[in-house]
Amino acid sequence: MAEFTIARAAEFEGQEVALRGWLYNLRESGKIRFPIFRDGTGLMQAVVTKADASEELWSRVGALTQESSVIARGTVRREPRAPGGYELVLRDLEVVQTVPEDDPYPISLKEHGVDFLLRHRHLWVRSPRQAALLRLRHEVCRAAREFLDSQGFIETPAPILTPAACEGTTTLFGLDYFDLGRAYLTQSGQLYIEATAAALGKVYCFGPPFRAEKSKTRRHLTEFWMLEPELAYATLDDLMELAEGLVAHMVASVLERCRRELETLERDPRKLEALQRPFYRLSYDEALKLLQQKGSQLPWGEDLGGANETLLSEHFDKPVIIHRYPAKAKAFYMEPDPERPELALCMDMLAPEGFGEIVGGSQRVSSYELLRQRLREHELPEEVFSWYLDLRKYGSVPHGGFGLGIERTVAWLAGVPHIREAIPFPRMLYRIYP
Ligand code: 4AD
Ligand code: MG
Repeated sequence: MAEFTIARAAEFEGQEVALRGWLYNLRESGKIRFPIFRDGTGLMQAVVTKADASEELWSRVGALTQESSVIARGTVRREPRAPGGYELVLRDLEVVQTVPEDDPYPISLKEHGVDFLLRHRHLWVRSPRQAALLRLRHEVCRAAREFLDSQGFIETPAPILTPAACEGTTTLFGLDYFDLGRAYLTQSGQLYIEATAAALGKVYCFGPPFRAEKSKTRRHLTEFWMLEPELAYATLDDLMELAEGLVAHMVASVLERCRRELETLERDPRKLEALQRPFYRLSYDEALKLLQQKGSQLPWGEDLGGANETLLSEHFDKPVIIHRYPAKAKAFYMEPDPERPELALCMDMLAPEGFGEIVGGSQRVSSYELLRQRLREHELPEEVFSWYLDLRKYGSVPHGGFGLGIERTVAWLAGVPHIREAIPFPRMLYRIYP
């Protein structure tokens, strides 16, 4: 017999179970007490009546304080009026630890300001909404791995401590590395998995990159999680196809396995059901035209930026892939478009409803000479990139990949406006505690 959890209460109807959890709330009405417990999988109402309970059980329930830890024993009964459709007819209550009455649980069931909640993030994660978000996050990650693994990708981790920048020198976190000088926290595993892609064909890394972003927006963390596939012999079209397939699979998996979480988050599943392939594709030039019609002043040649991304992303009801940005607005490693070398063979996927960029990727420069020139133009030290140049010397092939930001994807699918809630412990410009 499986272990009892609230999420699976229906399977235990009529049975005696032990619910190991915490008190979420206590309601009383005359001679009936309804303690509501949570166990990490959901909330369940229990019921105890003064007439049927022992004096001891009755008063023990009455004295329960919010978030006290308990083992509640009783029988599972169908009760359509109870949240979740089942309740626990309480027979016995073991209190594991009592939260003191004079030092109560800080997060009461009334509204709190977000600053207060973030300072109490270690406790805030217990609230049903936050727990639902973390469950949804888990499903997004599980589905992503499932998708790549089923297509023959091999996970090859990239190092977190690195000798050089990947995504520009302005957002690097540096540290002293013994006698070897400065080292940096990685901004992306990409450069390293270009090497493993040449070894294994199709690879991915999935880890936390770091960006010393001085921007205080709802889309930026200084530490986040990125899923990065990289493929040998891949073209920009292959990358767009893969990114669409990956995102579509994540959406389908969330719809299939996170119904309860979507409900807790008050996220209308119809919004997600509508996200059927194909997604939209627009060149940078076409996107710019659309933006200008919407009143944007963006000159040709610049990256879109947050506000324009929001404009575009509000315009579409499904994700939109913008491809072929001006090369000068993008990273040093991007392959130029042979038909128009001022463009990069790159793409960003923007999520709808104003959520903005969730994926960024490109084909990589495959010519040794061009890559050297790019390093010079970007004032990047050739010595520390000499291993990266080797990849263009020994069997260079057209290749590419992309990075998908997990928190941005989760925030979008869950319909929460700020990505700080999409990670257990967000790291931001003004926040490192707890
Ligand atoms: O567009 P980015 O910077 O691309 C790269 O790092 C490439 N080297 C990836 C690759 O080709 N392998 O970042 C990729 C994605 C973004 O689309 C966004 O979803 C997320 O990572 N991201 C962030 N998420 C949260 N906070 C930040 N500061 C982020 N910066 C990027
Ligand atoms: Mg980007």
